[in-house]
Amino acid sequence: MEQQPMRMKNNGQISIVLNSQKRNSVRDTLKPDSLPQTLPQEHVALKEIEEELGALVGMEEMKKMVKEIYAWIYVNKKREAMGLKAGKQALHMMFKGNPGTGKTTVARIIGKLFLKMNVLSKGHLIEAERADLVGEYIGHTAQKTRDLIKKSLGGILFIDEAYSLGRGGEKDFGKEAIDTLVKHMEDKQHEFILILAGYSKEMDHFLTLNPGLQSRFPLVFHFPDYSVDQLMEIGKRMLDEKQYVLSSDAERKIRDHLHSAKNSLSPMAFSNGRYVRNILEKSIRSQAMRLLLENCYSRNDLITIRSNDLIFTKGNSE
Ligand SMILES: Nc1ncnc2c1ncn2[C@@H]1O[C@H](COP(=O)(O)OP(=O)(O)O)[C@@H](O)[C@H]1O
Ligand SMILES: [Mg+2]
Repeated sequence: MEQQPMRMKNNGQISIVLNSQKRNSVRDTLKPDSLPQTLPQEHVALKEIEEELGALVGMEEMKKMVKEIYAWIYVNKKREAMGLKAGKQALHMMFKGNPGTGKTTVARIIGKLFLKMNVLSKGHLIEAERADLVGEYIGHTAQKTRDLIKKSLGGILFIDEAYSLGRGGEKDFGKEAIDTLVKHMEDKQHEFILILAGYSKEMDHFLTLNPGLQSRFPLVFHFPDYSVDQLMEIGKRMLDEKQYVLSSDAERKIRDHLHSAKNSLSPMAFSNGRYVRNILEKSIRSQAMRLLLENCYSRNDLITIRSNDLIFTKGNSE
């Protein structure tokens, strides 16, 4: 797996690990992974997307995969122009991973890439969950699901915790939502892209519920949990973006906290990047209050988060 970002499984699915823990030292994640200088001018779309992907910590496999999808679509257009057979593979995807591992962020970037490549006409992202699809009476669910697909045309329909549609068994309206989705992802397969997201295990179970489901998602992306080093790097980039820095005490305190939070919370409760974002946003507000009380506003005061400013949240609070 280390050498191969992509792997064909027996069932024809392509499996990608985004972010293998072993090789992702912070140093690695900072290495620019850019294309050769000689790339023709026309690949400007890819360059722009690479830059956006470069802002994300880790995910080396996904970055590679996005380039490969780009190349594949591009070459298919050339083949078509030459009168050769062009692969018309559907681009529906499955994102497997715990909360806060970057699934929504990557979906949004993929929407932009496909817009630039004319694969999608709008490239927007509609985020939905069970309640947006499942209705209260017979026929309601199909209607809600169709409406949502209509809104997504030209873009991406991203269904979070998609496995929850499979809960509740035969009588549940979730099944109706799945059937409607499956029907439309065939009929309108080049008008929108469906991305189903959720925990790995639940998603595997979900796929067994409808026999046609597995083969309809040729692209499967794995989003592993981040290491503490990666979480620290994510936090630093978030702060850098907002023009804040951590004091060395604060940095140590966050690192320790992340270690213990990762160990004590269940994998599903620890929300990775979102957990870090929540801590930092609360801490920025508490720093502001401190500055107000101290009446100190030097440049250094304004940009520095000190250890006493840190507010640690319990669990996976949004
Ligand atoms: N690799 C990464 N690099 C930088 N920030 C990240 C990364 N992964 C996640 N984040 C940040 O963590 C937060 C949660 O990410 P999100 O994409 O919403 O996760 P998910 O959809 O998997 O729950 C966002 O603020 C996002 O910007
Ligand atoms: Mg999300």
